Amino acid sequence: MNSTEHALKERIKELTCLYEVSSILTHANYEQIDDTFQAICYSLKKAFQYPKHTQITIEHKGVYVETDKTTIQSPSIIAPIKLFNIENGFIKACYTSENLKEHSFLNEEQLLLNNVALKLGTLLERIEIIKNEAALKRKMERNDRLNILGEITAGIAHELNTPLANILGFAELLQAKLTTKEELEDLDKILNSAIYSREVVKKLMFFACEMPHQMSTVNIVPLLKNAVALLEPSFRKHDVKHLVKINNETIKLKADTIQLTQIIFNLIINAIYFSKPNDLVTIEISEKQDIVCLKISDEGDGVTEELADKIFQPFFTTKPVGEGSGLGLSVVHGIVTSHKGTISVEKNHPKGAVFIVKLPKD
Ligand SMILES: Nc1ncnc2c1ncn2[C@@H]1O[C@H](COP(=O)(O)OP(=O)(O)OP(=O)(O)O)[C@@H](O)[C@H]1O
Ligand SMILES: [Mg+2]
Repeated sequence: MNSTEHALKERIKELTCLYEVSSILTHANYEQIDDTFQAICYSLKKAFQYPKHTQITIEHKGVYVETDKTTIQSPSIIAPIKLFNIENGFIKACYTSENLKEHSFLNEEQLLLNNVALKLGTLLERIEIIKNEAALKRKMERNDRLNILGEITAGIAHELNTPLANILGFAELLQAKLTTKEELEDLDKILNSAIYSREVVKKLMFFACEMPHQMSTVNIVPLLKNAVALLEPSFRKHDVKHLVKINNETIKLKADTIQLTQIIFNLIINAIYFSKPNDLVTIEISEKQDIVCLKISDEGDGVTEELADKIFQPFFTTKPVGEGSGLGLSVVHGIVTSHKGTISVEKNHPKGAVFIVKLPKD
């Protein structure tokens, strides 16, 4: 074969590959991106001068795909995969045959690799944008639902407040009038039930952001340490380890001290409850510009996307009947919202949940 013919043949292989890659990218399944990587690898392999002895590798965000296994130290060419101008993986070609050890790659082969890496980067950027948009939409829908629920809850809580106060008031009046033990015992049951109901209503009012707050400048660090110290027996009882990460002894913000403590307690209590023996709960507080960030992470089963839609709603619980009322996170959500902050739940790696509370300093 003369050299023109050879060059032409190589060029055709290259163009076929580019055509194939475009087609693979157009039909890519965003949920199964490793299949796309695999298809691109094999298409690229065919376009090289020595396809049989060339290994193609693609790496991106922990996904690693290669066409062949090799242990040979051969020259290689690499093209970075860039997402939004930041390097985030690569495509690599190298030889798998001892005979080609000294053989360098063609300039055209490097250009082909660059070209494919660029196309792949564009697709990965598009996937990232779509995923972010979907997450944002979900978050907004979740917030809308919670806002509506907050309004309904506020109405119910208000309506119940007066009759409950009446029940409690009149029951107390009766206490002075009743004489027999049985009568007093029955009345005690009425009183206890009314007090319990009042607590539920109070929690609902927190959720609905209807509780007044007394704002003052507080240092959250001693507050956090104090809460952890008070929960020490609970950690021990469940055999759960904990780690407190603080890089500054003074982190001040404007908040209601009691309500701030409630956030900390509820989140840590949940983290302990949903941990298994020997798991670690990490409590982290940090500040960035005008935001204070509290992170509570655990190594339990975590919160699925589906559950994340519900956990802040009042009365949602996965605890067995009688163990929880499902109001802890609703209270936290209400307090965070009334402090103009945000709360979110994410996956902890390798397992567990991370609750992230961000509060403005003032
Ligand atoms: N750290 C966590 N890990 C996994 N799931 C969690 C975690 N924290 C909360 N959840 C989920 O969110 C649900 C609601 O939590 P929330 O604190 O509101 O109520 P609860 O803990 O079930 O009951 P209560 O707090 O009233 O005792 C829980 O039942 C659980 O399904
Ligand atoms: Mg709870």
